[in-house]
This record gives sequence, structure tokens and C-alpha cells, in this order.
Amino acid sequence: DIHPVVLCGGSGSRLWPMSRAQSPKQFQSVNGAGSLTFFQATVQRHRGGVFADPYVVTSAQHAVVVRRQLDALQCPATVLAEPVARNTGPAVLAAALQIAKTDPKGLMLVLPSDHVIIGNLNTPIMQMRQAALDGRIVIFGIKPTYPETGYGYITDGGSFTEHKDLHRVAEFVEKPPLSRAAHLIQSGFAYWASGISLFMAETIIEEFKRLDRTTYDAVNNALERGEQGFHAFELHADSFRRAVNEPTERNIFERSPAVSLAPLDVQWSDVGCWTSMHAIGTQDESGNVLHGDVITVNTENTLVKAEKRLVAVVGMSDVIVVDTPDAVLVTQRGMCQNVKEVVSTLKDEQ
Ligand code: GDD
Ligand code: MG
Repeated sequence: DIHPVVLCGGSGSRLWPMSRAQSPKQFQSVNGAGSLTFFQATVQRHRGGVFADPYVVTSAQHAVVVRRQLDALQCPATVLAEPVARNTGPAVLAAALQIAKTDPKGLMLVLPSDHVIIGNLNTPIMQMRQAALDGRIVIFGIKPTYPETGYGYITDGGSFTEHKDLHRVAEFVEKPPLSRAAHLIQSGFAYWASGISLFMAETIIEEFKRLDRTTYDAVNNALERGEQGFHAFELHADSFRRAVNEPTERNIFERSPAVSLAPLDVQWSDVGCWTSMHAIGTQDESGNVLHGDVITVNTENTLVKAEKRLVAVVGMSDVIVVDTPDAVLVTQRGMCQNVKEVVSTLKDEQ
């Protein structure tokens, strides 16, 4: 069996004001009300067949939303709730330790919950089962198209003789600066880290023990001292707080000799910001992506999202306008990485 492990504790701050602390992007729907949310689409993609019921790791404040969205899919799941955010490393380890209680050699498929994926993902995953059972940490990579600074990069170190579709990782670089990203792409050997990975529970546990003992002890205690709540199993706050606040990419993938690369040929996007939201949206003949009650005149390559009121845009190009009941964002298309600074400013003011 493969245990899907869905990570959905992030805050998605670059998609403010659609993505708010109360309701981050992964719990909202891709194509407007009525369709599946990013989180639900992730869960649905890996159900039945070889897939066991999923493990979901989220923040305590979102446990209710998670359970509600799982119930709507009639999907039984183990939900682990984090009392404080410690990034993905501790979240992955918590799921691994929980899985290892009953199935230490069980495979876990780690899945971010904030992506749009078009194409067949499960076939390439199946092809990597043996490699993972051999003790490899298989990370899935996508051929890059531009020097995105918000992604991790994996450089190809040549394929293994025993698994021809599996490649050695020459280097794993999490979120490089623009010049480094451009350089990596020019080399022709780099892949984007999709955030999707496959390994045995015991493999990752051993790597945490070896490479990040602090997190290992903290998360182990947090599980032991945790309690089953109504919506989720709640990790113990004082213990979990001591885990190192880093993504799995930093504390394990950049350092473990077990990491290997499996190229993935699907259409993939981490719709992390408004520019990528525009890119994946349905565009009209002027390149505008319009959601809700919107009128445009002489306007092109623009994304306009109206939640409650009518929004009109006249004579503009390459702008993003997002209107929500309590906040409005207006920005230039392509500038949207900076949107998260609005969120930091708001936090500072609290
Ligand atoms: N449970 C839990 N706890 N989940 C978390 C936490 C946390 O503290 N922080 C983030 N997540 C979840 C997010 O909800 C998302 O589904 C996933 O983990 C990845 O987190 P992001 O914050 O979106 O990471 P990123 O996009 O900046 O970077 C990661 O994904 C890129 C591709 O999308 C890295 O894996 C990069 O290497 C990768 O290229
Ligand atoms: Mg992301």
C-alpha cells in the first residue's frame, strides 16, 4: 500500500487577499464556488487501488475545515493537527512516525495541497515503488520553463543502472536567488522540485534521526503526549514547538545521500501567486481572466476577481485586481511575489 500524506498547513500569503489566515488557498476552489478545492483535488487524485486512506497534516486552526472537506468527499483519513507552524519537515516526520506504528516499511507519498496538475501522476509514482522500497527518497522533478525563485531545484547527476528512470541528485538547492536559478536552468541539468516525494516511513525517520535529531525528539514526544481531539489528533504543543522550523527540503533533501530524482512529465503549477493564477485561468480574447461580476473596457492581459460587488476596469493592461468584502488588492502582473509583504505588514500591526 501507498499512504498519501497531504500537507495543508501553509498560509499561502502571496495570494492575499483571496488567501487569508482564516482561509488559505488550499481550501479554496480553483474554478470558483462548487468545484473541488485544491486540497480536495489532491486527496481525490490518489484514492482507491494501491492507495490507503490518506494522512493529512494541518494546523490546529484548520482541522475543522479539513475534516469538513474530507467528509464532503466521504474520505476517511487520519488528521494530525499542529499547534504551531513549524514548516513541512516536522509535518512529514509526524506522519512518518504515525505510519510506522503499524507499517514501518510502508511507502508514503508526500503531497503539497496547493498545486494544479494536469496529466497522469499515478503511473510515474507506481514506477518508483521499488526504488522507494530499496531505501531511496524519490523526489519528483519537473522540467523548468523559467527561473522561478519560489521553487527548489534538483540537478541531475545521471541515471542509476538498476533503475533507469531514476537519477542521482547532483545537488538540491531550495529557493535559489534569481541569478542562481537562471544559471541552474542554463546548465540544462536542472529540474524544479515538485514538492511530491515517495519513500518508506522508516527511511525518512532514520534520516531525521541522523541529520536533525532535535526535530526527531520533538516530534516523537509531540505524538506520544498528543491527544485525540474531535476533528484531529492534536500534537502536544510544548514538544512540537521544539522542532526545527524548516522545510523537509532544507533539513533532509539538501543533505541526504538517499535522495534521488524521478523526472515527471505532467503539466504542473504551484499556483503560488496572482501571475500564475492568471496563467492557468481561462483567458478571453484579450487575455483577461475574469471572475465574478466584472466589466472591462480596452483592457488586456489582466486578472480581475470580484467577490461581492461589480468591478469595472477601463484602459489598463497587465494588472491584477482582487476585490473581497474586506480588502482590495491592485498590483502589476509579474510583481506579485511582493504581495506577501502586505501580509507581513498586517501581522506587524496586530
Ligand atoms: N502541515 C503543514 N505544516 N503543512 C505545511 C506547512 C506547515 O507548517 N507549511 C507549508 N505546508 C504545506 C502547504 O500548505 C503546501 O501544501 C505545502 O506544504 C508546501 O508548502 P509551501 O509553503 O507552499 O512551499 P513552497 O511552495 O514555498 O515550496 C515547496 O514547494 C515548491 C513547489 O511548489 C518546496 O517543496 C519547493 O522545493 C518546491 O519547489
Ligand atoms: Mg507552494
